[in-house]
Amino acid sequence: MDSFIIRGPCRLEGKVKISGAKNAMLPLMAATILTGGRCVLDNVPDLRDTRTMMKVLEMLGIPAGLEDGVLSIDATEVTSFEAPYDLVRTMRASIYVLGPLLARFGRARVSMPGGCAWGPRPVDLHFKGMMALGAEMKIDHGYIDARADRRRGGEVILAVPSVGATVNILLAASLADGETVIENAAREPEISALAGALRCAGVEIEGDGTSTIRVQGRKSIEPFSHTVIPDRIEAGTYAAAARITGGDGTIENCRPAHMHAVIDKLEACGAEVSVTENTMRIVGTGKISSVDIETGYYPSFPTDMQAQMMAVLCIADGASAIVEHVYPDRFTHVPELRRFGARVTLDGSVAVVSGVPRLEGAPVMATDIRASSALLLAGLVADGETKVLRIYHIERGYEDIENKFRALGAEIERVAG
Ligand code: EPZ
Repeated sequence: MDSFIIRGPCRLEGKVKISGAKNAMLPLMAATILTGGRCVLDNVPDLRDTRTMMKVLEMLGIPAGLEDGVLSIDATEVTSFEAPYDLVRTMRASIYVLGPLLARFGRARVSMPGGCAWGPRPVDLHFKGMMALGAEMKIDHGYIDARADRRRGGEVILAVPSVGATVNILLAASLADGETVIENAAREPEISALAGALRCAGVEIEGDGTSTIRVQGRKSIEPFSHTVIPDRIEAGTYAAAARITGGDGTIENCRPAHMHAVIDKLEACGAEVSVTENTMRIVGTGKISSVDIETGYYPSFPTDMQAQMMAVLCIADGASAIVEHVYPDRFTHVPELRRFGARVTLDGSVAVVSGVPRLEGAPVMATDIRASSALLLAGLVADGETKVLRIYHIERGYEDIENKFRALGAEIERVAG
């Protein structure tokens, strides 16, 4: 398993281009199952998760090819309805094939995704959604076994605005007979991107981006082409890197309109942020001010940026409180940040970060995509050498991260094993 060696402290300066959004791309890849034809996605990042989802599709008999950011998927033939455990356990989003397989064929067998580094990841809302559209659901030897002889529209009220459940219901509703209404739907830009692609494929959808989405199902939908939106979490990560290193970074190919909550907190901790429609310049001079953060559902501050902002606040002037409302246990990065000399105390879903003047480089362990990027950020500003182990976590969600950081002036190298 490869590691990164980072030598700090450094000050990042220059430009970085943001890649397509992982969390927009994955639902779009699953949506191709609905079409029965050849779809083309561009601005696709070459990530571990991209390759995993390509493998999941290939297990279903759907060939996929990625070249220079262009992903072509031919869903004409589907020869299997099963997403196996060894793929689903590496990527929870494999569950996105559930809705489209049910919608097109009336059957699906998808391994339960299991937990993740920071705790349980339930799928009860996915079940609720499929059942509302006529499916019979059961758990059979660790697999979700779903059947639906007739796919009909229905009304689904989500207890929480789950991104994944909203994706699965949107996909299943696209080929259901009649109207589906999703109440308390997720409002993320990635949901609107998926709805936009489905509209191009002929599905009537309204309300995406709000809490109530209406879908008029169709008997069949056309193959579609779609350009993946920029990754707002990747952009936020580089913005946090400019802040923590006291640098001056210009982030290109991003969408600041999707990042208001993150920009607010970067400005609150002392960054100067200037934006255009597709760029964001972060100048991070001066002491980092302490800032309180509460994560929430979009458009609130994203849980996927919690670890990265915690790293920034580790060297802030004063104490900051971070409350994690989406995944109360999402703090696997805390013991690792403490190895840099950070002072973080945990009490349930609340972390109190007491800023220290400087961090010291240390060997640390990556545990999930975003926690790993937080350790990279700490390593950029820590004195001396940092070794981040198990960087396959980072490769799941960040395209070419070492070259992008190196181009900004970071001293970072990959070491095998
Ligand atoms: C998506 O995961 C993202 N993944 C996650 O990003 C992100 O952290 C999460 O949304 C929240 O924004 C992708 O888009 C591939 P949820 P998802 O269903 O869909 C509860 C990353 O780093 N819930 O919106 O799995 C759940 O426990 C990843 O890119 C249920 O209770 O998240 C959580 O508290 C990590 N029952 C809340 O909803 C369910 O059936 C939000 O989860 C489903 C979810």
